[in-house]
Amino acid sequence: MNLFWSDIGCPKYVLSPMVDQSEYAFRQLCRRYGAELCYTPMLHAKVFVSETTYQSQHLDIMPDEGPTIVQFAGDDPKTLLEAAKLVENVAAAVDLNLGCPQPIARKGHYGSFLLRETDTIVNILQLWKQHLSIPTTCKIRIIDKGGVDPQSRGLQATLRLVDQLEAAGISALTVHGRNRTMNGKKTGKADWDAIAAIKQRLSIPVIANGNIECFDDISRCLQATGADAVMSSEAILENPALFSNQTVDPFQLVHEYLDLAQVSPFAGINFHRVEKAHVVRMLHAPMRQITHTTKSLDPTKLISQCQCISELLNAVVILQEAYKNVPITSKLRNDTWYRRHRVEEDRSIRKEIQRQWLAGGLRLTR
Ligand SMILES: Cc1cc2nc3c(=O)[nH]c(=O)nc-3n(C[C@H](O)[C@H](O)[C@H](O)COP(=O)(O)O)c2cc1C
Repeated sequence: MNLFWSDIGCPKYVLSPMVDQSEYAFRQLCRRYGAELCYTPMLHAKVFVSETTYQSQHLDIMPDEGPTIVQFAGDDPKTLLEAAKLVENVAAAVDLNLGCPQPIARKGHYGSFLLRETDTIVNILQLWKQHLSIPTTCKIRIIDKGGVDPQSRGLQATLRLVDQLEAAGISALTVHGRNRTMNGKKTGKADWDAIAAIKQRLSIPVIANGNIECFDDISRCLQATGADAVMSSEAILENPALFSNQTVDPFQLVHEYLDLAQVSPFAGINFHRVEKAHVVRMLHAPMRQITHTTKSLDPTKLISQCQCISELLNAVVILQEAYKNVPITSKLRNDTWYRRHRVEEDRSIRKEIQRQWLAGGLRLTR
């Protein structure tokens, strides 16, 4: 345990950094339901230091919220220092993104594409350490390839890297237990053994990320990895009450979210990618069920036509009414946003989903 960790209350439940999705209103909702530490979406350091509009729209930390870590992406130590300096007064810490697997990260030379460039990473972290008054953290993926044993692909390289991250003075490390190729439909299962191996050799707090789908997964993950905390991303997007261990109606959560979004100083800045995307993810299952049982209503079309939060609110009310008429047998248990890419892993789950899809007359759309 270090001072940083105890200063922020030794969090166990962490909301992940998510581009367009871990914004202020959503963070507030997740904190209401138990999130103890939140991250901003990844901010591009170079754009952040050069464009004041980007800065004012994306630095959305409010004084009334709990501990929030600002995550940056980039590869230039000086730019990253300049960016971090700009958030020193509001952030609990600054985080270096070493996990983004997207083609844009390859092009921009950041995220997971830096994982094997230890010198660059260490330069960034050392500069941060020397010049910032706040702690620094990193979020990594497991390094891909490099091992003969598929279970330990790149694990040795990852262990060498984390030693250097700790030596460079970071105060906490998030480990997403997947490698760069495990993305989209190839997401697959996160490797908790790898996270355990990393946790075992470090003395700083480790946040485990990956395979947290429901509340019970949290204790399983903490036990398997020995990590200090768990981070959720895709599952909490669908169920922002994940950390509370309560079953909350998705429509209630959407209403709570839209109420928070409406009064947020950052409301509607990127409406189609932020607020609208949240509603679609939280209502993933009900929308699919309405689609396949209520021929007179197309939920996707209804939502996609909305141009502002109040229109979205009206659309949600229409969906809520329609959902009351969906037969109980069509309310699919396993048809979740989290599992849409993960059904391949578990044949029994996939079979069950297919059985339910067929029983409800549904088509396989993903
Ligand atoms: C919509 C979305 C946006 C994301 N944006 C970021 C980001 O900005 N920074 C980051 O480090 N990871 C980002 N991620 C990855 C997540 O933080 C997390 O590592 C990954 O989804 C695995 O966690 P999960 O299994 O709980 O989904 C994003 C994921 C999603 C679904």
